[in-house]
Amino acid sequence: MDVERILIIDEVEADAERLIRLLSAPDRALTLVRTLREGVAALDELAPELVIVSLENAEQPGPRAVRMLVEHRPGVRVVAVTARPGTTTAVATMRAGADDYLEKPVDPARLEQAVGRALHDLRDRRALQNTVETVKDRFGFRNMLSRSPKMHEVFEQIAAVAPTDATVLIIGETGTGKELVARAIHDDSLRKGKPYISVNCGAFAEGLLESELFGHERGSFTGAVGRRVGVFELADGGTLFLDELGETSLGVQVNLLRVLEEMSFRRVGGEKPVNVDVRIVTATNVDLADLVSAGKFREDLFYRLNVFPIRLPPLRERREDIPVLLRHFLDDAAKEYGLKAPRIAADAMAWIQGYPWPGNVRQLRALCERWVILARGRTVLKEMLPAELTRVQSASMAAGAPVIDEDQALAPQLERLAMVVERAYLSRVLVRYRGHIQKSATHAGIARRTLYNKMKEYGLDAEGFRAAELSSDPAGSPDDLRGSSRR
Ligand SMILES: Nc1ncnc2c1ncn2[C@@H]1O[C@H](COP(=O)(O)OP(=O)(O)OP(=O)(O)O)[C@@H](O)[C@H]1O
Ligand SMILES: [Mg+2]
Repeated sequence: MDVERILIIDEVEADAERLIRLLSAPDRALTLVRTLREGVAALDELAPELVIVSLENAEQPGPRAVRMLVEHRPGVRVVAVTARPGTTTAVATMRAGADDYLEKPVDPARLEQAVGRALHDLRDRRALQNTVETVKDRFGFRNMLSRSPKMHEVFEQIAAVAPTDATVLIIGETGTGKELVARAIHDDSLRKGKPYISVNCGAFAEGLLESELFGHERGSFTGAVGRRVGVFELADGGTLFLDELGETSLGVQVNLLRVLEEMSFRRVGGEKPVNVDVRIVTATNVDLADLVSAGKFREDLFYRLNVFPIRLPPLRERREDIPVLLRHFLDDAAKEYGLKAPRIAADAMAWIQGYPWPGNVRQLRALCERWVILARGRTVLKEMLPAELTRVQSASMAAGAPVIDEDQALAPQLERLAMVVERAYLSRVLVRYRGHIQKSATHAGIARRTLYNKMKEYGLDAEGFRAAELSSDPAGSPDDLRGSSRR
């Protein structure tokens, strides 16, 4: 949502003008109409995200105006304003589908809060809908594959945080997929289509990293022959992925903190401040908290970056992913080398399954390439495994970890993820409307019938939401879905 389209419906000129004045902002497109009839027409023409409607209008006074708007355009957010709070109650107005209810003269802070909340909710809904619809593309075969509930939690976190501008810290051992997560956050955000720039902070000597990040002016240091634009400038409007942040020196950290706070910096050797709009995603394979205790990482920067941490579990903690990834990488490598993908002998599979995979997914991928070449379309035998795999008698093997059938279908797992996300969203909406079907359907922008069907499918009981407190989850754990199937 680049520009927020807001429609204002108010017959009282002075009131309408006040709203326009209070709401004016560069990233908002405000449209003012007088009558409800014009308002309904504008819903179709402008597709606004939000409508602010006065309850005192000639055609449909009171909550009926709200109902008319949401029925005409399900999913649109509505904030009602009234000059006669005594006549129409807030409860009746919200029940009719309004997100908020404000008394005139509208208090600027309350208005901003109501608008912010309504639009935030809308973004939330769109992001989730997006996830549900594209889960197979996004998290399917091209990007991140997983059948592990732990990873599915990660996917849900990505979906939740991506559309915001929050700083994300990705924590995970080497080869767990941190780079893929960073990319997914960008692709799932409103900055998609703008630059995505990735910098490996561990790969630069201190002085050079500063110049890489912030750029430099000609002659600012020996070897700075021309002016150079840094990655902060290159990523303007988009996302900057700062990888291996734990490797940076304290000096660089001071500068980073300042840039993050102010979104403004000077090029090395430069005078003029440069302003940028950059979303920061960082990653580390070392525990930054440990580095903080050891005095190697600034505490203030740590807190600034740790706004939304995403932890990627190592492969040995999601062994159910091993067969899925194995199959995928074998097929991939086979295609690349023009060979047939090999089968894996049962005893070899047992070793692969039990190995602790210190190099995680990257290590598995590299070995798959090797096996494709070695097996030449036949079977990968235990003898073909590298010595380190067969030497390691992993704890889990000793404990008799179950070996998962590698041909188990992946598709149902992805389907399940989509369902978990959708179910979680619908539960939230149902909690909000205390199980009221029509209001929940309107809010979610789906037909009543569709909501009914989905509730049945997901085992959501309207009755259960009636008494629900906003903080509890009457829908139970999303894991209850395990084993259910979708047609
Ligand atoms: N869930 C996954 N599905 C498919 N491929 C994956 C998955 N996770 C990781 N990979 C692949 O494994 C390799 C390593 O991933 P990535 O580079 O993102 O790891 P990393 O955590 O950034 O590692 P490092 O800490 O070493 O930089 C890549 O080739 C990536 O495509
Ligand atoms: Mg990486």
